[in-house]
Amino acid sequence: MDTTNAPLEQALVRLSDGHMMPQLGFGVFKVDPAEAQALVADAIRAGYRAIDTATAYHNEQGVGAGVRDSGTPQDDVFVTTKLWNDDQGYDRTLAAFDASAQRLALDTINLYLMHWPHPAADRYVESWKAMIRLQEEGRVRSIGVSNFLPDHLERIIGETGVKPVLNQIELHPRFQQRAVRDFHAQHDIHIESWSPLGQAQILKDATIARIAEKHDKTPAQIVIRWHLDQGIITIPKASDRSHMVDNLAVGGFALDEADMAAIAALDDPDGRIGPDPATF
Ligand SMILES: NC(=O)c1ccc[n+]([C@@H]2O[C@H](COP(=O)([O-])OP(=O)(O)OC[C@H]3O[C@@H](n4cnc5c(N)ncnc54)[C@H](OP(=O)(O)O)[C@@H]3O)[C@@H](O)[C@H]2O)c1
Repeated sequence: MDTTNAPLEQALVRLSDGHMMPQLGFGVFKVDPAEAQALVADAIRAGYRAIDTATAYHNEQGVGAGVRDSGTPQDDVFVTTKLWNDDQGYDRTLAAFDASAQRLALDTINLYLMHWPHPAADRYVESWKAMIRLQEEGRVRSIGVSNFLPDHLERIIGETGVKPVLNQIELHPRFQQRAVRDFHAQHDIHIESWSPLGQAQILKDATIARIAEKHDKTPAQIVIRWHLDQGIITIPKASDRSHMVDNLAVGGFALDEADMAAIAALDDPDGRIGPDPATF
C-alpha cells in the first residue's frame, strides 16, 4: 500500500496519570479475526499509532500479530483493549486481563477499559478495584472505562479515589453528548468517541456534505476534524484501505464558526445508535 503521501495527524493528549495517547486512533469493532492482523499492520504502516480493540471483538490475537508485523516498534503503538461484561468481578477481571494479554502477546498494553458499567450486575466497583491493582502492579499503563454515565463515574471515584483517564462513549454529530462532556471536563476525564462517524450514516448528511465541499475534504475528514477540534480522542474504523488513509489526512485545515454551528444543529437527543448504558 502506498501511503507515502498521506499527511499524518499525530497529536498526542496527556492523560491524567501522565501518560500520552494519540488523539486519533484506529478502531477494529466488527473486524473479522482472520483479517485483523493484515488490517492492523496496514493501519500502522499508513500512520496510525493507536489501535482500539476489545475482548468482545474476538480479534485481539490478530491485533497483536498486526502490531508485531507492522515494522513499527511496539512501544510506538498505543494499544487499548477492554474487559467484557461477563468477566466483571474482582478475580474474574484479573483473569480476563491475563487472557487478553496472552492473546495480544505484546510487551505493553497501554490502556485497559471496562467495556460497559453493566449496572444490573452491580460488579463494576469491584472490577474497577481489580483494574487499579493491574495498574499498580505495572501490568497495564493506564485504566479507564467505557459507556459510563456520570453516576457510575461518581461511584467508582467515590469508592476508590481513583478516576479513569478516559471514558469511551458513543459520540458523533447526531449524538453530541454536550452535558456529559461538561461533566467530564470538570473532572479532568478525557472523552474518547466511539462510532465517531455514526457508523457511516452521518457521512450522507447534506450539511456535512456541504461543509466537505467547501473545504475540498471528504465527509469523513470533516467529521473527524470536528472531533479533534473539540479535544475529543477518537477511533474511526475502516476496513477499506482508502478510508483508512482518508481518515488520517485531516491536518492542514480548520472548521470555522459557521461550520461548527451548522454541525451543532445536527445534534439529536434520540440520535443514539448503540445500546443505552443505563440498561445494557
Ligand atoms: N466501547 C464501545 O462500546 C464501542 C462501541 C462501538 C464501537 N467502539 C469502537 O469505536 C470504533 C469506531 O466505531 P464503529 O466501528 O462503530 O463506527 P465508525 O468508525 O463510526 O464507522 C465505521 C464505518 O464508517 C465507514 N467509513 C470509515 N471511514 C470512511 C470514509 N473515509 N468514507 C466513507 N466511509 C467510511 C466504514 O466503512 P469500511 O469499514 O468499509 O471502511 C464503516 O462502515 C470501533 O471500531 C470500536 O473500536 C466502541
